[in-house]
Amino acid sequence: MTPEVKPLVAGNWKMNGTRASLDQIKAMAEGVKGDLSDKVESLICPPVSLLYVATALADDSPLKIGAQDCHQKVSGAHTGDVSAEMIADCFGTHVIVGHSERRTDHKEDDALIRAKAESAYAANLIAIICIGETESERKSGRTLDVLKAQLAGSVPDTATAANTVIAYEPVWAIGTGLTPTVEDIEEAHAFMRAELASRFSGEGSKMRILYGGSVKPGNARELMAIANVDGALIGGASLKAQDFLSIYGAYEELTA
Ligand code: PGA
Repeated sequence: MTPEVKPLVAGNWKMNGTRASLDQIKAMAEGVKGDLSDKVESLICPPVSLLYVATALADDSPLKIGAQDCHQKVSGAHTGDVSAEMIADCFGTHVIVGHSERRTDHKEDDALIRAKAESAYAANLIAIICIGETESERKSGRTLDVLKAQLAGSVPDTATAANTVIAYEPVWAIGTGLTPTVEDIEEAHAFMRAELASRFSGEGSKMRILYGGSVKPGNARELMAIANVDGALIGGASLKAQDFLSIYGAYEELTA
């Protein structure tokens, strides 16, 4: 955790979920209604097909709804793409950009991700910018170099603590059940904090840095307690309200 920074517990449903899954969003929206919501933010990013209905379901709840990607332009001839403005029009508040699955599947590079984050700002969305090393990069001792380059390349100069969340997701920890050691996460987050603080000064000291990669109810408390870990980006364990709420609930103790 970072003193005076409100943590964010965010779920990324990826390409999972149909209308039948809206019951889970309803349960999450109810489940986050207690006092803890004053201290911890919660967010679910369902597939865009469910976005508009999901925002309506969470309308009277502190649960925020976001999207998993956006195009860098506002509109135009880009078949299949969705703009940040369209997400905002559906009452989405956040958009994930640069997830490693998009960097791999769609060959997205830092420059494109930066442009997407800028388009998110223009639509008044909060950009969740994902970075993280691959297994071979970690094994060859290049983790911090990779994080430095990705932060420099994908985070816009206009980033602030209000419009940007960084999500550190080691690629080899996503969906694998593997996580780095507490010491490794601590080192990576301290490094990113120093990079952000040196580039954005006060804003960089307050910018949230989430950890993502196999966060589960069973490890959430330990991971969320690490210095400079300001929440989680959760894939698999965010699909079920019970698991998501249990991870969110880890903050009951941490913020007590
Ligand atoms: P996971 O995914 O929690 O299933 O490992 C995390 C992510 O990709 O955001």
